[in-house]
Amino acid sequence: MRVLSGIQPSGALHIGNYFGALRQFIELQRENDAYYFVANYHALTSVRDAERLRAYTFDVMVTMLSLGLDPERATLFVQSDVPETAELAWLLTTVTPMGWLEKCVSYKDKVEQGLSPEHGLFAYPVLQAADILLYDADLVPVGQDQKQHLEVTRDIAERFNRVYGGGEDVFRLPEPHILKSVSVVPGVDGRKMSKSYNNTIDIFDEPAAIRKKVKRIVTDSTPVEAPKDLEGDSLLALYRLFATAEDIAEIERRYREGGIGYGEVKTRLAEAIIERFAEPRERRA
Ligand code: ADP
Ligand code: TRP
Repeated sequence: MRVLSGIQPSGALHIGNYFGALRQFIELQRENDAYYFVANYHALTSVRDAERLRAYTFDVMVTMLSLGLDPERATLFVQSDVPETAELAWLLTTVTPMGWLEKCVSYKDKVEQGLSPEHGLFAYPVLQAADILLYDADLVPVGQDQKQHLEVTRDIAERFNRVYGGGEDVFRLPEPHILKSVSVVPGVDGRKMSKSYNNTIDIFDEPAAIRKKVKRIVTDSTPVEAPKDLEGDSLLALYRLFATAEDIAEIERRYREGGIGYGEVKTRLAEAIIERFAEPRERRA
């Protein structure tokens, strides 16, 4: 299958990006014809400083390589090196009803967070459709928050096929690849981990910074000896991503029975995160 995905260079990549996207990128490069790119045209909707955008673009590519994306297996590139993407985006825009973009929550969210309501931000899903359709992708690994953009991509492709296909399909309809277990990784404040919420733990944060950020993870005030809630606890949700099955079972049992403090779980989580990325961190250096 042809697999394709992109990541915006709008800041350092975090563990939400890792579990929601990058880990699937690495997994899928083995058996598939994979294409991964740095979406620097998209990042222009939030990063205007040329030096910074260049540095972030480089950083995302280096991060992908350090984590194990392999140029022998996958095609790695920078979005703007294929300017035909922008050309196709215009052609697609001519068959995209305003209403499809008006209902996209990502646009509304970003405007609420303070990005200015410019046309590029509004038409962002059309450029994303061009990214995907240009390469005849079958499968697009992303996090849950991109599901709606994938639906818009399919709708645009169908409409384009109907209008211009003369009975044949011009574009292939892509499927999203979203893993349920990691679809939304929580940040240290309990909301979705996101660069724009300032609640991230970055993949390549220094160990000291990881320990400090993990300490900030919001928990309730259940005392050590009391039984604890397993649902909606972001500390436990993060721990599940990093720990072994035995360690998870142990912690969950002690949550149920009481007799475990959040501080202990935080220490174990921080060390597990540092350990997980130790080898990529060295490769990156
Ligand atoms: P951010 O929200 O930090 O700006 P991006 O929008 O650049 O992140 O996301 C890049 C990729 O990582 C997308 O596929 C997105 O779905 C995924 N992703 C981002 N945050 C999370 C999260 N908290 N949990 C799971 N996946 C995520
Ligand atoms: N919109 C995606 C994000 O914010 C990044 C992206 C751009 C993308 N083009 C894409 C993802 C094409 C998958 C396919 O994370």
